[in-house]
Amino acid sequence: MRAEKQIGFESELQLGLRNIWYPVCQSAGVNERPAGLNRLGLDIVVWRDSNGRIHAHEDRCLHRGAKLSLGQVVNDTLRCAYHGWCYDTSGQCVTIPTSKTAEAKLAPRLRLYPFEAQERAGLIWLYFPEHTDRPVPPLVIPEELEDGTYSGFICEAEWQANWILILENLADPMHGPFLHGHSLTLSRGSLEDDMRTTRNENGFVVEREGQRGVNFDWSEFYCRDSIWVRLDIPLPFGPKGILRILCFATPIDENRTLVYFLRYRNLSGWKRAYWRFLYGVFWEKQHLRVIEQDRVILESQRGAESRRAEHLSNSDRGVTELRKLLREKAACRMPQ
Ligand code: FES
Ligand SMILES: [Fe+2]
Repeated sequence: MRAEKQIGFESELQLGLRNIWYPVCQSAGVNERPAGLNRLGLDIVVWRDSNGRIHAHEDRCLHRGAKLSLGQVVNDTLRCAYHGWCYDTSGQCVTIPTSKTAEAKLAPRLRLYPFEAQERAGLIWLYFPEHTDRPVPPLVIPEELEDGTYSGFICEAEWQANWILILENLADPMHGPFLHGHSLTLSRGSLEDDMRTTRNENGFVVEREGQRGVNFDWSEFYCRDSIWVRLDIPLPFGPKGILRILCFATPIDENRTLVYFLRYRNLSGWKRAYWRFLYGVFWEKQHLRVIEQDRVILESQRGAESRRAEHLSNSDRGVTELRKLLREKAACRMPQ
């Protein structure tokens, strides 16, 4: 009975939680041509109007279903490549060039679903509602991303793993000194510790009880109308100090996830310039090596199926707390 319930929750979460803002691509990925994306199992076209404003719609022409991302932007409308039907920024069909009658009678009744979109911190964010008639909540992103005292870089990757496994990995500081034990940044500290989790109004914090400021020793989960994770890694040099990482996991489908690690530092003057220079020539490669270790492990875990035969210990408290929180959020959204 218990197992059945658990599987039910899992299927609810497989493709991402709804009523959440997710980052779907980098700003730089959408230029004068429309971009076709698949996120949370949906085909989405993201495009810019002549003012540079972002719009996002279902990537499916209402005429015969062709992908609109194969078309082009013409006079602030999205024109389908197949027969030239055009949609304005609200998704309204405005032109049916093959038939003036259809344009007058049919087009006013056709409108693409418009996703709420925002462009912030070098990323494009979309809101994925469960019900389209509810108001869209404001997008909350980590304050570091829009705080001028911080400076950072975006790292993006696509992993062949379910999005929850990526979040669980971030709720599991004890993997640091093992999986990344030979890395420059995550080799220090003890291999044994107890974990503590603390709920707060936005989510929870998981932390090692016996160690702070040495390795990946804690992470903080924000889980409201957006989901993200904050953690610190102490850098031994270049310059020495805290590297703050803000992490996001956007489901592509049940087995693939778009992951973002935004690496920010609170530095000014020459230290900021030095770090930005060193990031390009040195740190980025080190960090990519570390997340590649995560990717290989997470892709080896067999997706959500991995949980059917797992054995958790007290060092997995963060994983347990995360699952509890996600299930609570999913349960709120399930029909009563
Ligand atoms: S399928 Fe788009 S115009 Fe025909
Ligand atoms: Fe890791």
